[in-house]
Amino acid sequence: MTTTDTQLTHDPATAESPAVSLRALTKVFGKETVVDDLDLDIASGEFFSLLGPSGCGKTTTLRMIAGFTDPTSGTVMVGGEDVTSTPPQKRDVNTVFQSYALFEHLDVRRNVGFGLRRKGIDRRTIDQRVGEALELVQLADRADDRPAQLSGGQRQRVALARALINRPQVLLLDEPLAALDLKLRRAMQLELKSIQREVGITFLFVTHDQDEALSMSDRIAIMNGGVIEQCGTPEHIYENPTSVFAAGFIGTSNLMPGTYGDGVVQVCPELRVPLLAGHGLTGGEQVSVAIRPEKIWLSELTPAMVQVPGTVVASTYHGATTQYLVDVAPDVTLTVLEQNLPRMSTGDRWTPGSRVQIGWLPEHTVLLR
Ligand SMILES: Nc1ncnc2c1ncn2[C@@H]1O[C@H](COP(=O)(O)OP(=O)(O)O)[C@@H](O)[C@H]1O
Ligand SMILES: [Mg+2]
Repeated sequence: MTTTDTQLTHDPATAESPAVSLRALTKVFGKETVVDDLDLDIASGEFFSLLGPSGCGKTTTLRMIAGFTDPTSGTVMVGGEDVTSTPPQKRDVNTVFQSYALFEHLDVRRNVGFGLRRKGIDRRTIDQRVGEALELVQLADRADDRPAQLSGGQRQRVALARALINRPQVLLLDEPLAALDLKLRRAMQLELKSIQREVGITFLFVTHDQDEALSMSDRIAIMNGGVIEQCGTPEHIYENPTSVFAAGFIGTSNLMPGTYGDGVVQVCPELRVPLLAGHGLTGGEQVSVAIRPEKIWLSELTPAMVQVPGTVVASTYHGATTQYLVDVAPDVTLTVLEQNLPRMSTGDRWTPGSRVQIGWLPEHTVLLR
């Protein structure tokens, strides 16, 4: 471990209480309940993402944790301490916004050291900590530049260094990468994740980008209409979505509403999807089944699979994969994603009009109610 690691790592003595606890947190604007009775615990050192569509209440939640917005009711705790009535600057929390407003007239070094100077910390300590923070975000050689001389990604890293230099217990990040182009965003995702691992500070990361949340987070909370619909590891949420919203928002799913009876969900007269035992449904219940496009096979089916005949109606080549649309009933078209395996040649792909048998393992049928 370098000195940078230890200097910027938060004191592990506070590791027992959750870094952030929200209890019945609620915000009403006018007649609209924007954040609705939220309960959430974020563990110390976690990379936690709040994922949801625009307008679902993510920013409002962050602002209440930071102290910029007063909750209508409920409690915010940071490190086990109730901070609901504590002013923002007294909370052990820092925020990186999407519009990472830097001081254009100050060089990078002064931008990063700004908060420490305001606290009246001595010059030598400031210089040392600014140096460490710039090292951390790989901008040590740009300390004398003005923000205008930097690229978007570099400016974002200055904002990050500025937020980390106070060594907050929790760093709140509100869609910090949304303004960057796709390639740079991917690179910054990896970098942010590695910085978080290095400093060990709890990150609460807000995004509407499901790929970003899946690839970066220890855990994700899916937010919709002011409530958390589901919370868990990326893998758990992807494999076991519990609501129609979660199944549709994370990745893509073939969603099929139907009626339960006798061990199967009848989607339409032509399509009956058998369920594994233990679903706890009673006859006549209206439910949905979902199946991920990449869980469906078009060839080499085994007898254990749920098998459905169909007709390929469209085929789209995506390089590493090919996406097929397969009609399996008059009103049911399934999306199937097949890898273009090394042993396959171009002629091996299915063409529109092909009659096929598709199949998936029964355990990959996700039941949504
Ligand atoms: N200061 C405010 N006054 C009134 N309504 C607001 C205010 N801030 C946010 N809202 C509303 O609250 C809802 C959630 O907003 P926000 O938390 O910014 O969502 P997100 O960050 O998920 O896009 C939106 O409908 C927005 O219009
Ligand atoms: Mg927002």
